[in-house]
Amino acid sequence: MSEIRELFERNHAWAERIEHEHPGFFQRLSQQQAPAFLWIGCSDSRVPATQIVDIDPGTIFVHRNVSNVVIHTDLNALSTIQFAVDALKVRHIMVVGHYGCGGIGAVLEHKRMGLIDNWLRHVGDVAVRHRALLDESLPFATRHDRLCELNAIEQAMNVCATNIVQDAWARGQSLRVHAWIYGLQDGHIHDLGIDIDSAQAAEPKYREALAALAERWRSEDAA
Ligand code: CO
Repeated sequence: MSEIRELFERNHAWAERIEHEHPGFFQRLSQQQAPAFLWIGCSDSRVPATQIVDIDPGTIFVHRNVSNVVIHTDLNALSTIQFAVDALKVRHIMVVGHYGCGGIGAVLEHKRMGLIDNWLRHVGDVAVRHRALLDESLPFATRHDRLCELNAIEQAMNVCATNIVQDAWARGQSLRVHAWIYGLQDGHIHDLGIDIDSAQAAEPKYREALAALAERWRSEDAA
């Protein structure tokens, strides 16, 4: 069977199974989506949003790009966030990084891969900002883990800084922004201590989360 043919066959089997288990599922879902979550994650094939949290279609609005980057001029990401916040009224936005992220590893290795180097410069900016925590004397795996965590936090802060999220908070809309990280090796998601529900909470929460990370890393270093 060709690999493409297999995808169609799997799709048909899946649709039939879901319909059998939940009669009318697709019909109901086709009328309207009302997701409570916007997931901003990495394009990595190993980090599929709904599968990781074991939830049905219709629950999570998703935006993925290489290394889960949120930049202020990316119309794609901004449009997704705007639609999710203003039209769908999601209650949570989570930026979900993952350990072992190839894009983030490439930044640390100063790898040249073409056009994507320019995109990954935004992760490079995170590395520059936190260079004290990413000391070259540390093992590569440690620096890689750390930059994956820091990047998720920084990109979540970028979400908070958008006029979309700021305006939602200003009009009293309930909206929380989170930074998570996913472990490819065990399938577990970890909270990075960012849970921001207002403009005023952003800066103190950010400092708190960074302090907690630094503290955890210190104890890991000592162990
Ligand atoms: Co990745």
